[in-house]
Amino acid sequence: MELAQLEAWAFTGSEPAGRVVRSPIAVSVSHGAYLRYCVDIEARGRDLDEMIADCRAVGMAYEGFRVRVLAPPPRPQFSDSEVTLAVANAIEGRPRLVDPLVTLAVVITDCGWYCGRLLSVGQNRWRRGMHRPHHFSSALPQRMSRALANTAASPGETLLDPCCGIGTVLMEALDAGIVAFGVDQNGPMLRLVAENLEYLGLPRRLVRADARQLTGHFDGAVLDLPYGRNLVGNLALWRELIAPLRHLATRSVIVAPRPLDELLEESGFRLAKSARVPKGALVRHIHLAVPRPRHVG
Ligand SMILES: C[S@@+](CC[C@H](N)C(=O)[O-])C[C@H]1O[C@@H](n2cnc3c(N)ncnc32)[C@H](O)[C@@H]1O
Repeated sequence: MELAQLEAWAFTGSEPAGRVVRSPIAVSVSHGAYLRYCVDIEARGRDLDEMIADCRAVGMAYEGFRVRVLAPPPRPQFSDSEVTLAVANAIEGRPRLVDPLVTLAVVITDCGWYCGRLLSVGQNRWRRGMHRPHHFSSALPQRMSRALANTAASPGETLLDPCCGIGTVLMEALDAGIVAFGVDQNGPMLRLVAENLEYLGLPRRLVRADARQLTGHFDGAVLDLPYGRNLVGNLALWRELIAPLRHLATRSVIVAPRPLDELLEESGFRLAKSARVPKGALVRHIHLAVPRPRHVG
């Protein structure tokens, strides 16, 4: 949930409330990990009756529409067909169930009922990467990797993964239209990454290097810090991997098995946002960090 909220914030710049984010801007969520729908809200209410009254009050009129009910669990007391019928009766114009000209969505949340045009739907493209030929025990989950890439960069922007491992973040970033570059010091691993990327028809921008010695500048970075058994990391190495991100990237998403607030502060970063993703004994701490301006004089 926390990572989903972080991704929603990264897409819209607005704070989510539970599973919904109300944003003044429309965004394409087709490449999203957790963000599933973008709806242009035209009518709202505290319950079905209020929303239907608002649909009439604002004069919603569409020719050839279909209604789709989007309600996260727990499901409301009305069936989808009851809601669909009530909305269809309140809209001016004829419905068209097959090949509709417009899809109207009804979004039901804890905060209320909303109705409007469905603008964009997440395509769950991260599922493709799960069928890649090569896997790795320390790899990040595919969906999580997509959310991390989306948090660090937007389509068309550049992204660096300086410890790319088997390349899960790279795959997801590239598939989302982000111009991603992968670095790892492990040469044999990079050959497997190349095969994974080729399998998915994605470009290979891979460099074998020590991430502590990189130069250049990228819009975003995703650094998944190395750690050993018992989730213990080498703090000195972490410090050396994090420090160069100050000049390498405008914003960095840093993943570690423990919170890094102090280390980031010492290294000259401001922690803009954070999220936790638990998985058994492991809790992945995700930090969105931006370089703090240095004071002169
Ligand atoms: C936790 S794994 C990354 C896993 C990756 N996110 C994935 O999903 O496959 C950490 C990676 O950091 C790499 N690494 C460790 N120290 C490095 C360094 N100094 N320079 C570049 N890569 C390094 C390791 O080879 C390893 O592949």
